[in-house]
Amino acid sequence: MLSIEIRPANLTDIDDVIRLNRLTLPENYPPQFFYDVFMQYPKAFIVARSASMLVGYVMTRIEKTLTVIKWINRAHIISVAVHPAYRRQGIARKMMIEACKASYEFYKASEVYLEVRVTNEPAINLYKGLGFEIKEINRGYYSDGEDAYVMHSPLPLKVSD
Ligand SMILES: CC(C)(COP(=O)(O)OP(=O)(O)OC[C@H]1O[C@@H](n2cnc3c(N)ncnc32)[C@H](O)[C@@H]1OP(=O)(O)O)[C@@H](O)C(=O)NCCC(=O)NCCS
Repeated sequence: MLSIEIRPANLTDIDDVIRLNRLTLPENYPPQFFYDVFMQYPKAFIVARSASMLVGYVMTRIEKTLTVIKWINRAHIISVAVHPAYRRQGIARKMMIEACKASYEFYKASEVYLEVRVTNEPAINLYKGLGFEIKEINRGYYSDGEDAYVMHSPLPLKVSD
């Protein structure tokens, strides 16, 4: 973990992010989508790099939502992944903390949410450890029919790294 740098993405990281997304997740998006999200919310697009390669990313979009009383900004964690060879070293946790901090500080988001497969125990544990709670089940959310938990947390997170 010592030699891993965690920081906001640069434009030159995005092709590596796209490759890591294809390697690690069935949910893939057109390359332009990654670039669009990066261009709009660069401070909350977090990457982890070793000396030689990109080993993780968290892609975040900020969404305006109308609550009962007012408009708020919500951070939507769209995609998170860590390269299989670098897992269980706290990299995802650290990236999530940075993405949530940036969403709160730069984009004034007062909540964060995400979808996760109901069988994805590593990810569910990661999010619970950060204080996220399951808010609802989105039935058949994924293209193969699997359900998603929608998990959320107020911002700022109450944990630190
Ligand atoms: C989920 C994922 C991002 C976690 O990355 P990571 O860097 O290994 O996670 P961390 O080391 O920061 O783990 C933080 C906590 O998450 C939980 N966790 C992570 N991996 C776990 C596993 N294999 N089994 C159970 N819990 C796990 C643990 O609570 C862990 O804390 P601990 O190590 O102190 O017990 C990674 O497994 C991954 O890329 N998976 C494939 C892509 C994916 O599923 N993304 C999420 C989509 S919603």
